[in-house]
Amino acid sequence: MNTTDPDARARATEAKMTDDERFQLLHGIMPIPMPGSNIDPALFGGIPAIAGYVRGIPRLGIPDLLETDASLGVANPTQLRHDQATALPSGLAIASTFNPELAFAGGKMIGSETRAFGYNVLLSGGINLARDPRNGRNFEYLGEDPLLAGILGGESIRGIQSQGVIATVKHLSLNAQETLRNTLDARIDEAGHRESDLLAFEIAIEIGQPGSVMGGYNLVNGHYACGNDHLLNTVLKRDWGFPGWVMSDWGAVHDVTYFNAGLDQQSGAQLDRQIWFDEPLKAEYAAGRVSGRRLSDAVCRILRSIYAVGADRPLTKAPIDFDANARVARQTAAEGIVLLKNDGILPLGDKIRSIAIIGGYADIGVMSGAGSSQVTPVGGAAAIIPVGGTGIMNTHARQSIVPSSPLEALRAQLPHADITYDSGYNIPAAAARAAKADLAIVFATQWQCEGYDGGMALPQGQDILIEEVSRANPNVVVVLETGNPVSMPWLDRVKAVMEAWYPGQKGGDAIADVLTGKINPSGRLPLSWPVDVSQNPRPLLAGLGEPDGTMVTVDYSEGSDVGYRWFAAHGQRPLFPFGHGLTYTCFDHGSLRLTGDDMVVAQFVVTNSGARPGADVAQLYLVNAAGKPVQRLVGFQKITLLPGETREVRLIMDRRLLADWTGDGWTIASGEYAFALGQSAGELGPRAVVTLTESRLNP
Ligand code: BGC
Repeated sequence: MNTTDPDARARATEAKMTDDERFQLLHGIMPIPMPGSNIDPALFGGIPAIAGYVRGIPRLGIPDLLETDASLGVANPTQLRHDQATALPSGLAIASTFNPELAFAGGKMIGSETRAFGYNVLLSGGINLARDPRNGRNFEYLGEDPLLAGILGGESIRGIQSQGVIATVKHLSLNAQETLRNTLDARIDEAGHRESDLLAFEIAIEIGQPGSVMGGYNLVNGHYACGNDHLLNTVLKRDWGFPGWVMSDWGAVHDVTYFNAGLDQQSGAQLDRQIWFDEPLKAEYAAGRVSGRRLSDAVCRILRSIYAVGADRPLTKAPIDFDANARVARQTAAEGIVLLKNDGILPLGDKIRSIAIIGGYADIGVMSGAGSSQVTPVGGAAAIIPVGGTGIMNTHARQSIVPSSPLEALRAQLPHADITYDSGYNIPAAAARAAKADLAIVFATQWQCEGYDGGMALPQGQDILIEEVSRANPNVVVVLETGNPVSMPWLDRVKAVMEAWYPGQKGGDAIADVLTGKINPSGRLPLSWPVDVSQNPRPLLAGLGEPDGTMVTVDYSEGSDVGYRWFAAHGQRPLFPFGHGLTYTCFDHGSLRLTGDDMVVAQFVVTNSGARPGADVAQLYLVNAAGKPVQRLVGFQKITLLPGETREVRLIMDRRLLADWTGDGWTIASGEYAFALGQSAGELGPRAVVTLTESRLNP
C-alpha cells in the first residue's frame, strides 16, 4: 500500500471497519446539553462545548472529529468555554483587502489556534455570495463576486489546512438570506447558478481543497440543499470530482434519504428530529435501499480528508503566540478598511489640535458580528450588550464589543491633540461637544447576527446623530463599523467616510493607523453599495415578519447578474461601486495589452504617481463577450508601490469567466472580447480587445 496516498489509506482503513463503526462516523452531535434533546448528556463527558463532535475509532487510529466554528477565529459564541482566541476582522474586511496572501495568513493563523486549542476541524470557509445588502451573515462571507470570493476563500482554506486542520467550505448553496432560512426555496436557473455562487465554490475548492463541504439550510430549486441530489451528487461530486465529504448544517437534515442524495454526514444530530444517519440509515441499509458501496464511499470520503490534511496527527494543546497573531489581525483590518469618501480632510494632520470622538462604543472597542462565528476575543469582550428578541438564534443576540479602543489608539497616535469622547446618546450634548473641536469623528455601528437580516438604515438614531454633529461642525469624519452597506442620507454633509467593517482584535489600532495616514488605505469594496434597498433586485425581503416554518420562495431571476453585474445590466449607479476605495496617493494604469486564445493574458503597468507609498488594486473587467455587453471581474492584483514606482502586471484569465454555461458545460463563443481596466466596477479606464475562437470547456 502507498502509505502517503490518502485515498489508498482510506480504502485500507475502511476495509477493516465493522458496519457499526462505519455508521458511527456518519453522524455527530453538538456537545452542548440542550433542553428536550434525546441525547444523553453523559456522552459529552470530557468533550469541550464546541460546535460538533464525531466519535473516532481508536483501534484503527481514526481520531475524534472536534469541530469548531468558524472563519473569523476559533469561535466561542456564548462563552460556554473559558478560552479566548484572536478575533480576525469580518469576512467582508478580509475580502476588502483583495489580498490572497493575507487571506492565507489569516487562515493559517486561525488554523494554528484551532490546533493549539486541541480541535481538528474548523467550520470555516463561508463564501455565499452577497445577493442582498440585508443578509445578516454577509459579514461572515467574502462579497458578491465569484472570482474574488473563490480565490480568497480558497486561500484561507489552504492556510487553515496547512496546520493539519480540516476546513469546511459552506453553505452550498444560495443560503443568501437568514429570514426563514430553514424553509426558503431558492430558485435559480442552472446557468445563473453555475456562473455565480457555484463558481465561487468551485474556485475555492480547486484552490483550497477543503476536506469537507457544508450544505445550506435552505432548499435549492425545490429540494433541501443537504439532500439535493443535483447539487451534491451531480455538481459537487461528479462534475467537480470533489473527493472529500459533505456534512450537513446543524439541524438541516429532515430525512434519511439525504444519504443517497449525496450527504455523507449528519452534524449536530440532536438538532434534527432524528439521528437519521444512525438507526434509520442502518434500517435503509438492511432493506437494501442503501448500498454497501455508498456506505463505503461516505466513510472513505471522511477518512481520505483526515489523512490528506493530517487531521489524525495527535492533538496536543499548545501555547499560542497571541501577539504575533494580533499582528495578522491588525494588518488584515488595516488593509480591509475602505476609504469611501475623502474631501481632503484625511489623513489627520499634525495641525489638528482638538478632536471630538462620538459614539460607537469607541471608548472601549469595536463592534463584532454575532452568531455561530462569534469569537470571544483575547482579553474577553469589552462589553456584552443584550439585544434580545425571538427565534432559534436568540441566545446569540448580543452585541460583543471587541476590546480595541479607537479612542485610545488615536490618543496614542496623536499625542498633541486634545481628544474627547461622547457616547452620542444625548445628541444635543454630542453636537455641542463637536462644535468646540477642530474636527469630529463619529463612529457609527450596525450590528448583525446570524439568524436575522437587517435593514440598510443605521439603527438607534445614528443618522440623526451624524446629521446634528455635521450641523455643529463642518469637519466631520464618519467611521462605519457595519456588517453590510448602510444608507447615508447625510453623505453630502460630511467630509470623509471610512468603512472599517467589524475590524477585530486590533480594530481600534487599524482605524487609527488609517485615519492618521500611518497606513495608506488600500481596501476596496467587495460588494456594491446601493443607495438603498430600492436598487436591489428584490426590494422586499421575502418572508419578513412571517413565523418560523413558513415556506417561502425566492426567485433569483437575476441569475449570475449579482451585485455590480446587476447594476451594469440595468444601467443603474450604486452609491459606491464594487471595487471602489480611495487612497492617499494616486495610481495610473498604462495601456492594456491582451494576447492569447487558449490562454488569455493581460499585461499593463501601474504607476504610483502620488507622493506616498501605497497599494493599488488593479481590476480587469470583461465588458463585451462576442457582441454581448457584460461586466465580469476576470482578474485583480494588489500592487504595493513607492512614490514614482512603476510595475508591470500580468494576469492570466480563468476561462470560465470568459464563457457562458450552456447546457452541460462552458462555451466560449467565437468573436471579439473587450476588456477594461478599472479603478472600480463603476470607473473603467484603458480598454483592449482580443479575438477568441469558439471552444468548449468541460465542467
Ligand atoms: C451555522 C453554521 C455553523 C453551525 C455550527 C449553524 O447555525 O449555519 O455555519 O457552522 O451552526 O455551529
